[in-house]
Amino acid sequence: MILVTGGAGFIGSNFVLEWLAAEREPLLNVDKLTYAGNRENLASVDDDARHVFVRGDIADRALIGALLREHRPRAIVHFAAESHVDRSIHGPADFIETNIVGTFALLEEVRAHWTSLPNTERETFRFVHVSTDEVYGSLGPSDPAFTENTPYAPNSPYAASKAGSDHLVRAYHHTYGLPSITTNCSNNYGPFQFPEKLIPLMVVNALAGKPLPVYGDGRNVRDWLYVRDHCDALRIVLAKGRAGETYNIGGGAERNNLEVVNALCSAMDELRPMSAPHARLVTFVKDRPGHDRRYAVDASKIRGELGWTPRHRFESSLRATIEWYLGNMQWVERVMSGAYLQWVERNYGQREAKAGAAP
Ligand code: NAD
Ligand code: DAU
Repeated sequence: MILVTGGAGFIGSNFVLEWLAAEREPLLNVDKLTYAGNRENLASVDDDARHVFVRGDIADRALIGALLREHRPRAIVHFAAESHVDRSIHGPADFIETNIVGTFALLEEVRAHWTSLPNTERETFRFVHVSTDEVYGSLGPSDPAFTENTPYAPNSPYAASKAGSDHLVRAYHHTYGLPSITTNCSNNYGPFQFPEKLIPLMVVNALAGKPLPVYGDGRNVRDWLYVRDHCDALRIVLAKGRAGETYNIGGGAERNNLEVVNALCSAMDELRPMSAPHARLVTFVKDRPGHDRRYAVDASKIRGELGWTPRHRFESSLRATIEWYLGNMQWVERVMSGAYLQWVERNYGQREAKAGAAP
């Protein structure tokens, strides 16, 4: 079996669902179920005996060690992290705890497990570390896209914590020989993304007739990747990737935030004509501190070496994503309750009152 961490979050749950649909191999899913993790994402595989779910923290070494001894996975796919840049600005401590200290704890337990395996299993073992393009910093308008050789220059506490985890993974390969692979991916979108990130937040607000808060001048550029393309890439990396390597994963779909929000508003106009035009809701708000201007990913290495290429086009998959949210508003209401609302009130209450912008 394989062990997945963070498999109840956005990308993790998409990965788990696709894995169980495409592969025969069982999967052990360890997730702490923070505000971002939801068992409900995995309801459709509740009766699948190949999916073993354990609520737990990657930093809990006793638990992780016991699970590794009991299940003897042949590979780890490590998604678990604090993932939201704005949260890392308001409170970086959790990001250091999970992304750096948690990854360190996981690596230590996995190293002990891997060392105990017979030689043949040690050679084929893989630790896939799911990371981000944000570790490379920010690009100017005409800079070439990030390659695997771009120097690290993380700018937010989130990006710095992911960079720290990447360095640990690299060191465990270099020093101990742990067969690890790191992937650095661009912005994902698709079903099950927590509605604090740009695309689902805008859908939820547009539907409620609330302002669509665009940071700064709205010209920041991201390289958008449909989550299923990311999951395909990870399965290929796990199957064919070379130990010790890093692979960039990107959608080849650079868009600035206003282009994304306008495309989203046009789709909403067609899907909910009674409340059109949704673009009237666009509201410029104070910029994110240290806001990276542009990300762009050169994915030629994974394309050439492993044969992966994104199959989904941005505009049609954006529409499919919007339709998924419109059809799953009960999911949205449930995940946006309780602890999440308290956090929003604490960190954005004042801004909302001032700018009329509302997550
Ligand atoms: P997410 O925030 O939606 O999900 C994170 C999951 O990890 C949640 O289920 C949460 O409960 C779990 N988790 C958090 N702390 C944990 C801990 N200490 N122990 C066990 N589980 C814990 O995140 P996501 O968007 O699905 O991102 C998954 C991974 O992909 C992250 O490592 C992130 O850095 C990386 N990534 C995300 C994107 C993106 O656009 N979302 C892009 C590139 C890379
Ligand atoms: O690049 C990969 C990264 O993409 C991942 O590593 C992160 O986990 C993921 O959260 C994402 O980070 P971003 O900061 O790029 O994503 P976010 O959806 O928060 O913001 C996307 C862009 O939209 C960014 O330029 C900020 C802007 N934005 C965001 C929000 C939430 C707004 O203008 N208004 C908003 O309300």
